This record gives sequence, structure tokens and C-alpha cells, in this order.
Amino acid sequence: MSSSRSHLNIDLSGLMDVALGADGLAAADLDAIAERAAAAVDTTRAQRAAGDIGFLDLPDDSALARRAMDFARDLPEHIDTMVILGIGGSSLGPQAVYRALAHPYDQLRPRAPGMPRRVFFPDNPDPVTFRALLDMCSVERTVFAVVTKSGGTAETAAQLLVVADHIEAKLGKDALRKHLIAITDPQNGSLRALVNELDLVSFPIPPSVGGRFSVLTAVGLVPAAVAGLDVTGLLDGARSMRDRAVAADTSSQLAHNPALMLAATLHLHHMQRGRPMVVVMPYVDSLYSIADWFRQLWAESLGKQVDLDGNTVNVGPTPIAARGATDQHSMLQLFSEGPPDKTFIVLGAEERGAEVTIPSRFSEHSAYGYLGGRGMGELLDAELRGTVASLLGRGRPTATITLDRVDSFAVGELFMLFEAATAFAGSLYHVNPYDQPGVEEAKQLAYASLGRQGYEEHAAKLDVRTSDPRYVFSS
Ligand code: PA5
Repeated sequence: MSSSRSHLNIDLSGLMDVALGADGLAAADLDAIAERAAAAVDTTRAQRAAGDIGFLDLPDDSALARRAMDFARDLPEHIDTMVILGIGGSSLGPQAVYRALAHPYDQLRPRAPGMPRRVFFPDNPDPVTFRALLDMCSVERTVFAVVTKSGGTAETAAQLLVVADHIEAKLGKDALRKHLIAITDPQNGSLRALVNELDLVSFPIPPSVGGRFSVLTAVGLVPAAVAGLDVTGLLDGARSMRDRAVAADTSSQLAHNPALMLAATLHLHHMQRGRPMVVVMPYVDSLYSIADWFRQLWAESLGKQVDLDGNTVNVGPTPIAARGATDQHSMLQLFSEGPPDKTFIVLGAEERGAEVTIPSRFSEHSAYGYLGGRGMGELLDAELRGTVASLLGRGRPTATITLDRVDSFAVGELFMLFEAATAFAGSLYHVNPYDQPGVEEAKQLAYASLGRQGYEEHAAKLDVRTSDPRYVFSS
């Protein structure tokens, strides 16, 4: 489906004085940041033009979408499962797409011929969950996709080795090519060398697209196509938001650019109003994984030790994912009455796609009578409205994003909204949103700890922890 009309209603009024009085931002605050905000768009445009950042061009790659769909179509009929071997951006993006758009219990549905495949994301190399998954999936009916931009991530490498062994042990060496594909850098990295050696089917992750910005590369599109989801709609939605964020003449202006306004308001609430935390709280189960994906995007992109001038700043906002209404009974007490150090983005959907009518039973009891004839979705919407009203009433800045319905176009828009906002926020925080030295260091220490050649000098850093018996309790 192609349409340029937005499927999102992005309402940021709840971050402003119109809703919050003195706790909100004023038009003058926006005026004061307008020039820097415009510069953030210019910087992003320039980086795009120089080919340094690739995520903004992904929505135009219809050839990749076609290739992903062809791959899905040509999979042998008996393959009913895909398992993604990847972590971080190589797993969170495809998970967010799958959870948003596939049947909520897709993995449990019995497979009939011609049905799209179910997809699993083991993600963490926990031996209990990983072994259980391998035991559960018939290797004859599974295609494994190893997904890693760098090719070297230890968790993914470990899963790959176990799976390669598993396939060979069950089906013989020749089966590897039929049951294993790779999504990685087109030229570099250890996985690319292995792909060439084993002649595996592979898809590229463009070098100019970092892991957490890779959801619209093959990383997200291949699993989506294999699961029978609408990859074209995803790209259409992302393109439409991309054009609002960087392409139009007016995109440097806060009033025309929701991604820029989001970045600017969250940044102002952090740096001027002492609210470093951003809670993303969907009241739609299928959107929860997008909140989880956003955590990585916002945290890894903006949490930095040094700024663009090399000064030590140790800056960064803290993203939190919460689920409505579940977390009303867990986190909301803190959100409402705890320190006023958070802003909130509440996600909802105009149309939920299904409704469960609550029967009028036991209506003589006041605890049940008022629910009779209402819908469960109606209940969740009422909870959402209640939470927003209560947070605003307590001076807690709360934006809402409402999807017309959870479809691929709206989800594509949402991905691009958050990615572009992250890019602009990088400029406002004056940090590089595209690197991740802290993640790299942890990777190097893990290599050193396991004795990987070439990482010997990192081993010294592993000895930082001194154990003092006064603080150790053991049996
Ligand atoms: O955003 C990032 O770059 C990281 O979080 C990576 O996604 C994560 O570390 C996995 O890296 P790779 O895809 O290289 O295995």
C-alpha cells in the first residue's frame, strides 16, 4: 500500500505549558533552541549527502524489498521456521517488526502448507533457552539467519558455531548452505569471509548503517518477508516520515517536523528541566517491542563520555520501556509520585483490529456491572486516558502518539520518527549518535576474557574488581 497521508497522530502538547503550566516548555523555550534545531537538520542532511549515514536512504531501496520477498517466496515449502542468530540492533529491530505486525502468538500457531513462517529471536546466548529452542525446532524445517554487522560479536559467533554443528550433525555437511543464511557487511568482517568460504546466501548491511539504525535494511526486511509481513508498506511509511524529517524545504523548522520537535522537547526537558529519563509506554501489546527497540536506539546513540569537541561530558538520557496497562500496577506509582525526572511518550491505537466484548454478567455487583457491554480495548483506552490525565495533572510531561491502526505504514513511520529524532538529538547533545565505544569496549573485554588472540592487552582491565570478605555472603 502506498500513501503519503500520515497514519500517526503525534501530540506533543503534553510536554508544553499549554497542558502543564510552569512544568511545561514555553514557546520561548522553542524559539531559543530553534537555531540549533535547524542546524541539527542541516548536519544530518550534510552527513547523508556525504554518504556517512545511510539509514535515511533505506526507504528507497525497493530492490532490497523485492529481494527479501523473492527469498521468502523461494524458500522450500517444508521450511516453516526461521531463527535469527543476532543480538543488539541485529535482533531488536526485526523483533519489533515481527511483534508489531505478525499474529501475537504466531510462534505457537500450527503451520499449514503455504503459511508464512514463524520467526524466533533467541538473542541472548543463554544455554538453557538456546538448547531448548534447538530441541524444539526441527532442523529439517528451519532456516537459521546469522545477523551481525561487524561479524565478530561473541554472542552471535557462539550461536553460529553451535548451529553449524547442529545442522551438520543432523543433516550432513551439504545441508549447511540450505539451512543457514547470513546478513552482514557486504565486504568486511569475519562473517563475510565465512560466507564466501561456505558460499552461503547472504544479504548486505550497508556500511553506513549502524546496528541500531538497521531495522529497514535486510536485518529487518528479510525476517519480515519470511513471516509474510508487508515490507513495502513499512518502507512507504518510513519514506513519508523521512521526507517530513529531512527532505522538505521546511524540515528545519520545528513547526513542520515532528522528529525535530520530539528531539528538541525531550532535550529541553532533560537539560533545562532536569528530566533525563524518557518512558515509552505503549497501551498496545504489539507495540511493546518498539519501546524495547527504542531503548537501545536512544541509549546507545546519546549516552556518551565525550562530546564532539573531545570534552569529557558523560551525558545521556535514560530510556525506559513500560507496558500499559500492566505497568500501571507496577511502575506508575513511581512515575506519578516519585522524582519529577521523567518525560513520557504514551502510544495508543485508534483502531485495535479486534475487540472483545465484556459480557453483562453479575451486573448487580457494582465491581462488575459497569463493565458489561464495554470492550476490552475500550477498557485499555480508558486506562490510557486515565494515565495521561493523571500524569499531566501532576505536572509530568506526557506526549501521546496514536496510530490510526497498527499497520506496516504506521510502524514504518514510527521507526523513522524515532531514528530521525535520535539523529537530531545527537546534534543537540553535541555527541556522535552513530558510534558506541562503550559497547565496543565490553566486546573487547569479553574477547580478552575468553583468550581471543589479539586482545591480550585488554585482559589487564578485567582485574578491576577486588573482593572484600566484609561484603561477601556465601553459604
Ligand atoms: O548498535 C550497535 O551497533 C550495537 O548495539 C550492535 O547492534 C550490537 O552490538 C550487535 O553488533 P553486530 O551486529 O555487529 O553483531
